[in-house]
Amino acid sequence: MEQYQVGILGGGPGGYVCALRAAQLGLSVVLVEGDRLGGTCLNRGCIPTKALIKSADFWRELQQVEEFGIRAGESSFDFAKMVERKDRIVHNLVLGVEQLFRTAKIPVIKGWGEITEAGRINVETETGQVRLKVENLVVATGSTPFRIPVPGANLDGVMTSDHILDEKTLPEKLVIIGGGVIGLEFASAFQALGVKVTVVEMLPSLLANSDDEIPRRLTSVLKKRGIDIFTKTMVKEIKSAENRLITVVENAKGIQEIFSDRVLLATGRKTNLCGVNAQRLGLQLEGGSIVVDSQMRTSVPNIYAIGDVTGKAMLAHVASAQGMVAAGHIAGHQVEMSYRAVPSVIFTHPEIAAVGATEQELRTAGVKYKVSKFPFSANGKALVLGETMGTVKILANEEGVILGSSIMGPQASSLIQELVLGVEKGLNAEVLAKTIHAHPTLPEAIMESAHGILGKPLHLA
Ligand code: NAI
Repeated sequence: MEQYQVGILGGGPGGYVCALRAAQLGLSVVLVEGDRLGGTCLNRGCIPTKALIKSADFWRELQQVEEFGIRAGESSFDFAKMVERKDRIVHNLVLGVEQLFRTAKIPVIKGWGEITEAGRINVETETGQVRLKVENLVVATGSTPFRIPVPGANLDGVMTSDHILDEKTLPEKLVIIGGGVIGLEFASAFQALGVKVTVVEMLPSLLANSDDEIPRRLTSVLKKRGIDIFTKTMVKEIKSAENRLITVVENAKGIQEIFSDRVLLATGRKTNLCGVNAQRLGLQLEGGSIVVDSQMRTSVPNIYAIGDVTGKAMLAHVASAQGMVAAGHIAGHQVEMSYRAVPSVIFTHPEIAAVGATEQELRTAGVKYKVSKFPFSANGKALVLGETMGTVKILANEEGVILGSSIMGPQASSLIQELVLGVEKGLNAEVLAKTIHAHPTLPEAIMESAHGILGKPLHLA
């Protein structure tokens, strides 16, 4: 039986980062993965969706080139080629991770593993069963899309984000059930590519956990582009008739039928405990997720859990941070996981990014706060880019310490990082306001918004 100091079940951004870190720290590591390395993020999530979104953005921009003095002539797109490009990017990234494993001399056992008892993993591989003895076990088995239990949810053409990415042709009409992160990223990209999109959300607003202002602004932008949005609407049933799908929904106006070629279920994800017999192992669960402490230890000695199975923010970057902590703790380092400043990013057009508290959270907690908003329409670089929609909003306490921020606008996904640092380190807005920002750049909008916390932005009448 092969023996290692660390055995990791699952090779997503939690598991593979944990393995690389553990090897860097001098531990002997083995990783078990039944599919390709990279997990949902690389193979069916973050990376492939962003590749398609880039193609959609290009196409959207092409419609506006005349404004920039360019005559592009007749243009068209080939969706199958977009899909091929996406697949190439995914393939290259997976090869890159495999190479990192080879260089770090970390064996990957390809097959579905099962934790039979603490310290043991049995793996069914193509060439037979492999039995591993490990001093420390890390469960990094991720999550899977949640299929809502309505009649018709398993019909042909009703798909989750796992499968819609494999489609080689675009639907004419798409119904998206769920107005959360996945639903809206697909809605934004597919609409740009000419698909008639309808979003059905059961709650009163899209992106229910965001700062109130974000869903309000985004809903209006998406509606103007022609996306139909139903909120406070329940899905009763999905039916199939003459090659079309009919989504039957109910809201205050009564029952309605929405026709489409495809239905995307984007109604959240559930933890995946495949191969982990939590009950037999004695792992404490809460709402189906594995309970962990700030060192990523479970209730069973020498078993750690990281990533989506822990039921914290289901985000690749959180999984990776947790993987680093687990590896560090196994190696005997003083490490601790903090969720104080977790950025969240939504790759709609315009992009949305946030960190820390929202305005409604501060109101509910009775915290006295200041708020400042700086619009991209007053930022020179945004004008140059032709991307003036949105604002940088900063929330701070009465002394000016940054408590949270939400950005809607060009490159929000990159801009947020300055505010992540602000929240993480408890910086005063004055620090951002007095730090010289290069001109002309988008981050100047952050500096201006920080000035707003102290008094008033400079470039705002
Ligand atoms: P989500 O929780 O963000 O959104 C699901 C939405 O579906 C919610 O608004 C919910 O109210 C709605 N819903 C649930 N049941 C419904 C029903 N029966 N009828 C109508 N609406 C219903 O989950 P989502 O979008 O599936 O994403 C899953 C996870 O993946 C999230 O944790 C998300 O943060 C993560 N993710 C992150 C991305 C990023 O960082 N850019 C991209 C994609 C996913």
